[in-house]
Amino acid sequence: MNTWFVRFITSSIGKKVVMALTGLFLISFLIIHLIGNLQLLSGAGGQAFNEYAYFMTHNPLIKATSYGLYASILLHAIQGILLWIKNRQARGSQGYAVKANRTAGASKASYRMGAIGSIILIFLVIHLIQFWYQTHWGSQIETVDYEGWDQPINDLYALVAFTYTNIWMVVFYVVCMIFVGLHLWHGFESAFQTLGLSHEKWTPLVKIVGRVLSVALAAGFAIIPIWMYLNQ
Ligand code: HEM
Repeated sequence: MNTWFVRFITSSIGKKVVMALTGLFLISFLIIHLIGNLQLLSGAGGQAFNEYAYFMTHNPLIKATSYGLYASILLHAIQGILLWIKNRQARGSQGYAVKANRTAGASKASYRMGAIGSIILIFLVIHLIQFWYQTHWGSQIETVDYEGWDQPINDLYALVAFTYTNIWMVVFYVVCMIFVGLHLWHGFESAFQTLGLSHEKWTPLVKIVGRVLSVALAAGFAIIPIWMYLNQ
């Protein structure tokens, strides 16, 4: 591969650019994921949600985009962990002398991003085993027949609904969504900054959009398990 590219991508700024680009792509995934998942609230035995899930797992264009999504998750997580370790080492060697200045503030924020990001990564592994693995290869999932379909389709709705009959699962998801919100609260704005898109006029707007998005996504995702638990 091109050496300047490898050098760039493994440099500190290169890692941050990768984090910013993959982070923004992951946010766009989360918006679509939430809109799709809100169909879990439409009742009617989950037909709308199951048909949507079937479309998402069988459409060739969406399947191809999914590979980009998995690669982005891996890149974002790996680069994030590497940057986090580097920042921790830098903090260790600088001691407390720099704590009072702005650099220390920025490194504190990035330390927090790493810690919260790691919690989200653990959440994601559990989440993917619960739903994504089951959708593709699991034995816990049953199929359902709908009028107008010439073959039975996966009853993913029943699996999600069953998962949220457990109050501890509901609590786990709600707590994790708070972490997702906190991560995006800082992350959205930080991505624009890394990409050099700071502007006197636009930065306040980016800040507001980032905050509205974080709250809307965290609250939107958190409502699903709560609503399903209360309406089982
Ligand atoms: C209450 C909240 C959520 C519910 C009910 C939910 C539900 C689901 C379900 C049913 C699937 C399997 C369907 C499929 O593979 O298309 C899935 C996949 C997935 N979820 Fe979630 N999800 C939630 C929150 C999140 C959050 C916050 C993240 C990220 C931090 C996330 C990341 C993913 C990913 C990466 C996949 C795999 C998508 C793919 O294969 O294209 N989910 N989710």
